Formats: sequence, structure tokens, C-alpha cells
Amino acid sequence: MPCYQCPLCYLPLVRSANVWSCEGMHRFDCAREGYVNLLPVQFKRSKIPGDNQDMMHSRRAFLDAGHYQPLRERVVGLIMALLPQPTGNWLDIGCGEGYYTAALAERLTLGQVYGLDIAKNAIRAAAKRYPQVRFCVASSQRLPFNNASLDGIVRIYAPCNPAEMLRTIKPGGWVATVTPGPRHLYQLKAQIYPQVLLHPLKDDRLIGFTPLLSESLSYQMELSGNAAAALLQMTPFAWRATADVMTRLNELSHFTCETDFIIRVWRRDE
Ligand SMILES: C[S@@+](CC[C@H](N)C(=O)[O-])C[C@H]1O[C@@H](n2cnc3c(N)ncnc32)[C@H](O)[C@@H]1O
Ligand SMILES: [Zn+2]
Repeated sequence: MPCYQCPLCYLPLVRSANVWSCEGMHRFDCAREGYVNLLPVQFKRSKIPGDNQDMMHSRRAFLDAGHYQPLRERVVGLIMALLPQPTGNWLDIGCGEGYYTAALAERLTLGQVYGLDIAKNAIRAAAKRYPQVRFCVASSQRLPFNNASLDGIVRIYAPCNPAEMLRTIKPGGWVATVTPGPRHLYQLKAQIYPQVLLHPLKDDRLIGFTPLLSESLSYQMELSGNAAAALLQMTPFAWRATADVMTRLNELSHFTCETDFIIRVWRRDE
């Protein structure tokens, strides 16, 4: 059963050579790096949607340095523990430059992992580095995947549309999410806001799914000033930071910062 669905007429897409096409004669070429763009121009809300190039580069530098490796290991470890076999079709929504996507693909030796993001520059970088993953440019608001074609979805700090997760995940399939806990990046926020508000905990209901697990993962990161600035650059509060804050962080020799991740898993009702 093919996974990709035509974003224009919703028929399945089949690959032949470097083209994905449907029976309705719509064609989507694979880019040189191997990814496919399934976001038709008429569905784009802005010219360059998603994270910009600077955010993507900062994220890659920060992740490559291993500061979020404990999170990656925990999430992938939890998923592998759920599965009787390392197989199935898994999708990483808002996968960015593919840090978590690739780790899942490495462990899911008999399955196929997909990565989706609305930012073309992030998908291009992801596809270049991780050829074992199938990457596409698309919006999480309308997933270009057939009904009940996915065994699981991973969503790490990315927007999603719950109705689309319900449509595309098979009965008995999984959703795993990572969201910020109350104290996530507290010390970094204290550099920007005079009074830091703790991140509110969101409700964990997901229609059509049963919650299986919720746990938090927190640890202290010992960062260089440059790493702290890169971290700030990849967060939404970068918009609030003045040039002074960036300079101050870059000049620090050392910065200690807390993480507080909430990891949740749900199972799709039969
Ligand atoms: C905070 S980043 C997280 C990236 C990655 N999961 C990680 O943790 O390294 C959020 C990602 O969601 C993407 N994004 C934002 N809106 C989106 C949408 N509507 N559909 C798909 N991706 C989207 C951004 O381009 C960005 O790569
Ligand atoms: Zn079509």
C-alpha cells in the first residue's frame, strides 16, 4: 500500500524513476536531494513558510553538538519498546532538518520513515544528509498521506492537525509527541523577560486516541555562550531578543540551562 497521497485529487501517488504521480495525471518530481515537494503553490500561505534558514542552521549546529541527545534517545527508545517488530510506516511531522527522523530510521530497520516539514530549506538539508528517510515538503494541516497508511506519527515541537492524524494513522497505531514542560529553558527566557512565566501544561486529549504514557525529561545543559545563542536563535522567543542579548550570550564562556520536555504517547482506538 503506497503511503503518499496526491495533494490535488487525493488519489495514491506511485513512484516511477524520479517522479511521484497519481492516476489523475498529477506529477511531482523528486528534487536532486531526493525529497518531493507536495505543497502546491496555491496552498502556500507565505512565500517562504516555516522556519527560516538562520533558524535551521542554528538548530542543526545545536543538535549536532548533542545537547538534545538524551531526548532523542528517550523518544526513539520509547517508540521501539512499543513495537513488536522494528517495522511500519512512521512519519515525523515538522521534522526540521531531520535529527529525530534519522534516529528513528536507524532503529526501525524493517520499516520506512517519512519526514515532513513546510520549510523547504530544512527538508533539503535533511534529505541531503539522511537518504534513508523519505522527506517531503508539505503542511501538517493537510498531510499528503493516504487514509490509515501510517503506523505512527512523531511530533516534536511542531504544529499539527489532530483530524489529519486520526485520518492517516491505522487503528492500533501510535502518536508520540514532545512539548515544552513548565521549566523548559527557564534560564534562557530569564535573559529576555523581566519575569519568566512557566510554560502552561496543555490538556492531553486527542480524539480517537487513548493516552498510554506521559513523562517528563529534564536535565541541565552546560553550554558555551555560542551554543546558548544558537539555542535562543532556534526558539520562538528569539523574536523578542534584542541584539544586546545575543551579543551578551555570545560573549559568555559558560551558560547553564534547564530542559523540561514532556513526552506523551497515545494509541489509536480500534
Ligand atoms: C520548533 S521546529 C522543530 C523541528 C524538529 N522537530 C526539531 O525538534 O528539531 C518546528 C518545525 O515545524 C515546522 N512547521 C511550522 N509550521 C508547519 C506546518 N504547518 N506544517 C509542517 N511543518 C511546519 C517548522 O518549519 C519547523 O521546522
Ligand atoms: Zn492527483
